[in-house]
Amino acid sequence: MNKQRRTIEELRSQRWYNSQDMRGFAHRQRTQQMGLRREEFMGKPVVGIINTWSDLSPCHAHLRDRADAVKRAVWAAGGYPVELPALSLGEVLVKPTTMLYRNFLAMEAEELLRSHPIDGVVLLGGCDKTTPALLMGAISMNIPAIFCPAGPMLNGKWKGQTLGAGTHTRKYWDELRSGNISQDDWVDLESRMTRSNGTCNTMGTASTMTSIVDTMGLTLPGASSIPASDAAHIRMASSCGSRVIEMIWEDLKPSDILTRANFLNGAKCYMALGGSTNAAIHLIALARRANVKLTLDDLDAVAREIPVLTNIFPSGQYLMEDFYYAGGLPALLTQLVDHLDLTTKSVSGRTLKEDLEGAECYNNDVIRSLDNPVCEGAALAVLRGNLAPRGAVIKPSSADPKLVKHRGRAIVFENHADMVARIDNPELDVNADSVLVLRQAGPRGAPGMPEWGALPIPKKLLAQGVRDMVRLSDARMSGTHYGTCVLHIAPESAVGGPLALVRDGDEIELDVAARRLELLVDAKELDARRQNWRAPSPRIDRGYTALFQEHVTQADMGCDFDILQGGQRQGEPEIF
Ligand code: FES
Ligand code: MG
Repeated sequence: MNKQRRTIEELRSQRWYNSQDMRGFAHRQRTQQMGLRREEFMGKPVVGIINTWSDLSPCHAHLRDRADAVKRAVWAAGGYPVELPALSLGEVLVKPTTMLYRNFLAMEAEELLRSHPIDGVVLLGGCDKTTPALLMGAISMNIPAIFCPAGPMLNGKWKGQTLGAGTHTRKYWDELRSGNISQDDWVDLESRMTRSNGTCNTMGTASTMTSIVDTMGLTLPGASSIPASDAAHIRMASSCGSRVIEMIWEDLKPSDILTRANFLNGAKCYMALGGSTNAAIHLIALARRANVKLTLDDLDAVAREIPVLTNIFPSGQYLMEDFYYAGGLPALLTQLVDHLDLTTKSVSGRTLKEDLEGAECYNNDVIRSLDNPVCEGAALAVLRGNLAPRGAVIKPSSADPKLVKHRGRAIVFENHADMVARIDNPELDVNADSVLVLRQAGPRGAPGMPEWGALPIPKKLLAQGVRDMVRLSDARMSGTHYGTCVLHIAPESAVGGPLALVRDGDEIELDVAARRLELLVDAKELDARRQNWRAPSPRIDRGYTALFQEHVTQADMGCDFDILQGGQRQGEPEIF
């Protein structure tokens, strides 16, 4: 990056602070109203700290303190830090699904940066959707930006066993329903599974996404693996503050960092992590913001190349704390050097090769080498066929190997409420070979594409010992869950995708190795059903949700709003 260092006069904040008209007076006056002396903010780069802390966001409980660490470093480096609260998407407590609000936070981040005197930004987030959302906004705004990941929580412990957030919730829920643990055990588990600040300790969407954007160069190198409650995490936040000041002088923006190679490196990391299927949506959304071409087929090609090397739940046996002690993300990336483009740049201003210098693996069971992968199946497979013309995804590494080639009869649930009402009914005509089908669960239909894709196993089958079945939907699945679940079917049922045409008893064939998903009903019959199909009317007709339903794209396009993709730059606001 042989750009000239910028001068203070060239920074966008100076349009607010250094103007000699009446408005400039008002900007300086109102800043002094908050008790700042003129010399504390005049002539300094302004660093925004977008904070997704809230009292309802347990994974981000420590981010209020981390903002202080960032501020401390910004002051010390000669900047003026300003903290901006933003929508906090705590995965578990936000209903109906945080995915409905990912684009809201992305828009908010972009507009917060555009409308205020900000020269560079540190983005505080990490719980699932917050990572793509904040970065989608920052990429569109294209000012110097560092993502400061919230960091994973510590390992959960119960009765001598190690517990992973999410993964074990579902596991013990099934054990409770089948009578293998007591109600007292279940209550006890509530306080044992998630015992510190930070994001899920499994390889859920949070650690998948923070590790991917770390690989892509959008965090300080290796930042994503540091546990939230480690003192190193506070020092990392502080380093974000000092580094972003340098990036402002260097004019190092997302567009100077992000190329297709960064995204492919991110995808390789995703597969080596055995990461969450949600990443397939978020990576494409991020790429489209950066004007980089990235498709589901690119991800499938990478998944065929890179096996799962990270031995973490739900694909493996360890947790994020173990990953950090094993050397963390830099140690994982050293296993992949022959597959990565090492010339990509990061926020550090260095290349990936330089960022990885000195990285070492300290536990080759937690972080495997390419000749000793964690499992047979890849982290992702992209399926096509007459049921998914624009694609669907499955995570073979967390599916039952006996089910990845399967033919069975459909049991169709019209929507989530129908599924909840009937799934445990002893009269339900279901057996272990049935294919459970859920519709009206996609981006528009639900709306917001909730994590309903791991449909529960019917109680009567659980009692027979059945733990996995083939399940199909236009929904997503939590990264911490497992099962032979075909997800993100596109186009979704609500817009007339073939999923809308499936009927009880139809035969469905899944063949993951051949990347096929077929509804074995002849084309003539399907045409007749299509003629009779009527689009359901939108369930909500006001406010943000109405906007969402109108503008959201399908899963293969990243579920971004059509009006936000493609890196359209809105330009700077008028100041008057
Ligand atoms: Fe926040 Fe899992 S609930 S990361
Ligand atoms: Mg999740």
